[in-house]
Amino acid sequence: MCGIIGYIGRAEATPILLDGLRRLEYRGYDSAGVATLLNGTMEVRKCAGRITNLAQLVQKDPPNGSIGIGHTRWATHGRVTDNNAHPHLDQSGKLALIHNGVIENVEQIREQLLSQGHIFRSETDTEVFAHLIGRIFDDNPGPRTQRSLMESFRLALSQVIGTYGIAMFHVDVPDVILGARRGSPLILGIGKGQNFIVSDVSAILAHTREVVYLEDYDVVSIERDNFDIRSLAGTGTSFQVSQVEFTLEEAEKGSYPHFMLKEIFEQPEAIRNGMRGRLSKEESTAKLGGLNMSSRELRDVERIVLMACGTALHAGMVGECLIENLAHLPTEVEFASEFRYRNMPMNKDTLVFAISQSGETIDTLAALRESKRKGHRTLGICNNVGSTIARESDGGVYMHAGPEIGVAATKSFTSQITILTLLALLLGRIRHLSSAQGIDVISALENLPDKVRQVLDLSDHIADLAAKYAAAEGFLFFGRQYSYPIALEGALKLKEISYKFAEGHPTSELKHGIIALIRPEVPSIMIMPDDAVFDKNISSLEQIKARKGPVIAVASEGRKQVAVLADDVITIPKCPDFVSPILSAVPLQLFAYHLAVKLGCDVDKPRNLAKSVTVE
Ligand code: F6R
Repeated sequence: MCGIIGYIGRAEATPILLDGLRRLEYRGYDSAGVATLLNGTMEVRKCAGRITNLAQLVQKDPPNGSIGIGHTRWATHGRVTDNNAHPHLDQSGKLALIHNGVIENVEQIREQLLSQGHIFRSETDTEVFAHLIGRIFDDNPGPRTQRSLMESFRLALSQVIGTYGIAMFHVDVPDVILGARRGSPLILGIGKGQNFIVSDVSAILAHTREVVYLEDYDVVSIERDNFDIRSLAGTGTSFQVSQVEFTLEEAEKGSYPHFMLKEIFEQPEAIRNGMRGRLSKEESTAKLGGLNMSSRELRDVERIVLMACGTALHAGMVGECLIENLAHLPTEVEFASEFRYRNMPMNKDTLVFAISQSGETIDTLAALRESKRKGHRTLGICNNVGSTIARESDGGVYMHAGPEIGVAATKSFTSQITILTLLALLLGRIRHLSSAQGIDVISALENLPDKVRQVLDLSDHIADLAAKYAAAEGFLFFGRQYSYPIALEGALKLKEISYKFAEGHPTSELKHGIIALIRPEVPSIMIMPDDAVFDKNISSLEQIKARKGPVIAVASEGRKQVAVLADDVITIPKCPDFVSPILSAVPLQLFAYHLAVKLGCDVDKPRNLAKSVTVE
């Protein structure tokens, strides 16, 4: 949440900052701002609203300089106003700071600074942070050098409690930008004659692919031709320069109207990439070397806990069914946000997975740390290479889905399920699954990308359905077994981007209360592929129809009975039940997308949301 970018080089900073902010906008889009520095003069432009508002402001009166910082905000402390937009200045007006995170002891620091005569112009914790650094620097009796600025910066950081990914510069010490991270992502981008500090590599791909993923408590300074990374204590620290895997084109919309649609259509390739090199027909199993565990160690696992939030949690719920069914291994899914505060009994043979597209979700990260603190081996299933969860876990599996920029998660969901299927296959093959059964799983997985493509071909039909039902008051989503998490995910996608009220339930719960909601204004979406409970689903469908509830069924091809009973049908290809969740999820993503477009909603930047939830 919140995107930050700092640039120091030889080009004009503002166009680079604006371009970076556009690419970071998915992280927050309440307000935005930039500050630049030229010949001892700082210029700040900031306003509430989208980057387009900032761009207009900048166009009227461009701030100059080849040093600058920029921010796109997702509000935590303080309302969405021009004053609360970043960058924030210190008391002297010479220090500019941008921040992603939350300072918890802000009131205490604010009181202390107020008693020293400080005046605050915003309601934000960030402004207090800027004043604290500026105060310490101004009280420093020595010469105003890069060294003394860095010392003041470090001293201020040691006084704040909370999370931050920050960047700042000071008019009296030109030619350097300082940055630091704790709990919020921060990346150093290394260019030729120019360097960057950013919250996400997508912002700087046009300039460099060479990056350092900074660690918590790293403090960095960048100059045009140099950079320096140290610990908060000021000692040297080890770091690794990495190459970004994906290209600028992959992080752009191309000919698609929205990132979400592009990412929905990328699913066949994303699924294939997740499986590439990981299936062994000779051994009828999956190879997941990144787990860093031998077959013997994996066989000794007695229980699996999957921790995640939101869409990733729904993928975990599918994973629970997969691992239990294919590997007969007790598995539980936990909201990462609950796990971290619960004292869940876990014996020593429990293997824990943190599932996260971004690898930066604060709740999932905290759950991972709590699990590791308790001594459990904790692995990650992440998309973002070099993300904090990927680095802090004891091993794991990368999804290789490519950048996901649409705020509503789509391809990451089906990629997570693909990885969990590989995991279930691997765990199954060292337990109860025969070689022949293993081969069946492999061939179902190999056929999957083509079947997803067939579902994508239904996009126009699904758009027609979305138009037909666009006036509905709300939607109910029903599914059983593997399809229950898909009902939850279908409802989440719809709520997130169309703001329609939507709920997901196990179909069998209908008669235990939810049936009271059935009426013509509230359509039900029933996920009912060919599986062991198909006939039961038919009975539930009849119960809904008997109460005049419209039904859209997502069913396997060839089921004539469904076509007779339901008002509308979305037909998915026949497949084994364990791959059906992926095939059922895709039409629901498309339904949410087309409905939101029909209603004129901002699909890629839904109200109040932001991608990568890095605050608690
Ligand atoms: C929903 C969505 C969120 C995320 C959740 C976890 O469309 O995007 O619910 O799934 O915030 O995010 P990651 O997977 O990055 O940990």
